Amino acid sequence: EILDGAGKYLLPGFVDLHTHLREPGREDTETIESGSAAAALGGYTAVFAMANTTPVADSVVVTDHVWRRGREIGLVDVYPVGAVTVGLAGKQLAEMGTMAAGEARVRMFSDDGHCVYDPLIMRRALEYANSLGVLIAQHAEEPRLTQGAVAHEGPNAARLGLAGWPRAAEESIVARDALLARDAGARVHICHASTAGTVELVKWAKGQGISITAEVTPHHLLLDDSRLETYDAVNKVNPPLREASDAEALRTALAEGVIDCVATDHAPHAEQDKCCEFAAARPGMLGLETALSVIVQTMVAPGLLDWRGVARVMSENPARIAGLDDQGRPIAVGEPANLVLIDPDSTWTVHGRELASISENTPFESMTLPARVSATILRGRITARDGKPEPRDEITGAF
Ligand code: DOR
Ligand code: ZN
Ligand code: ZN
Repeated sequence: EILDGAGKYLLPGFVDLHTHLREPGREDTETIESGSAAAALGGYTAVFAMANTTPVADSVVVTDHVWRRGREIGLVDVYPVGAVTVGLAGKQLAEMGTMAAGEARVRMFSDDGHCVYDPLIMRRALEYANSLGVLIAQHAEEPRLTQGAVAHEGPNAARLGLAGWPRAAEESIVARDALLARDAGARVHICHASTAGTVELVKWAKGQGISITAEVTPHHLLLDDSRLETYDAVNKVNPPLREASDAEALRTALAEGVIDCVATDHAPHAEQDKCCEFAAARPGMLGLETALSVIVQTMVAPGLLDWRGVARVMSENPARIAGLDDQGRPIAVGEPANLVLIDPDSTWTVHGRELASISENTPFESMTLPARVSATILRGRITARDGKPEPRDEITGAF
């Protein structure tokens, strides 16, 4: 089979360290099947499915289910993220070792959406993870500073009467966890960095030789809290959209390598959970199908990253952070490859109802964005082409 690559770029398949696929528990908003299609269309060949499902992915039963379901669908490698604690934000460490030794070979743990808050639990979790050779990804949020908060604490929220989520809620946990990782001699990964202060702290920690990595979402690179004006809950997300100066600091940090990679925090939500009052709506935004275009718009177009850099922040670095040895690296001649073919010159207009996700909560609705995925290839097999997923042949089951 021949794909026409004239005028296009061929990159290693993208790796998303942070996706909410909602299965099990909220299959009305996304399933592993619909989310896999969205991932393939976005150019991804591996996604990490976050642990805040129902039931929580705090046991090998759930993590192996997610893994097997992903393999069955075969559009993208779905790596389950295990919960650090029993239940989210729990007080007891989950059986990370059992999940790591299961069929899914879980290599990343988080309580995403619920900070691993207690410092003693975090310290023990880092030590345990270090002994297992797995990674802890931290949703950095000091919950006592964010109770009731719905938007970034700043002039915009104040004017609109929205309760504020201070930068310190994120930064205090980033600083704490960098120090805990130092003391434990362990690695820590910071989810969705959203402030200029987090950038400074990560830079400082790296300078100290601490094993810290960080991701940034496309929405925190492109959008800021000036969007709150309309009170449209599609703009509600955790951590919240910050100020334009934060977004600028995040773009610079990604360009300079202080922030290692892009992760979507793809967070599907039902219409009824997003159409209500801002304060009552659930936080989260779709991201898988728009990530590349937003990175081209925010990073490539202004000259902050070249295409080599896109491969680094969307494929190679996340693959390295998660310890995937079959992603984001040069491949030998004849070896089945994970690839994404990109048309850099085409543009498209985003419409939530046209996305493969079951949910429609894209903050980029009606925006015209650059670059499209022409095809995604998983181990040599086309998984998406020209805007349509290509499910595996049911009869042969061939990859
Ligand atoms: O906006 C968010 N949505 N932030 C989180 O941390 C969790 C996520 C979700 O699960 O919807
Ligand atoms: Zn989170
Ligand atoms: Zn998340």
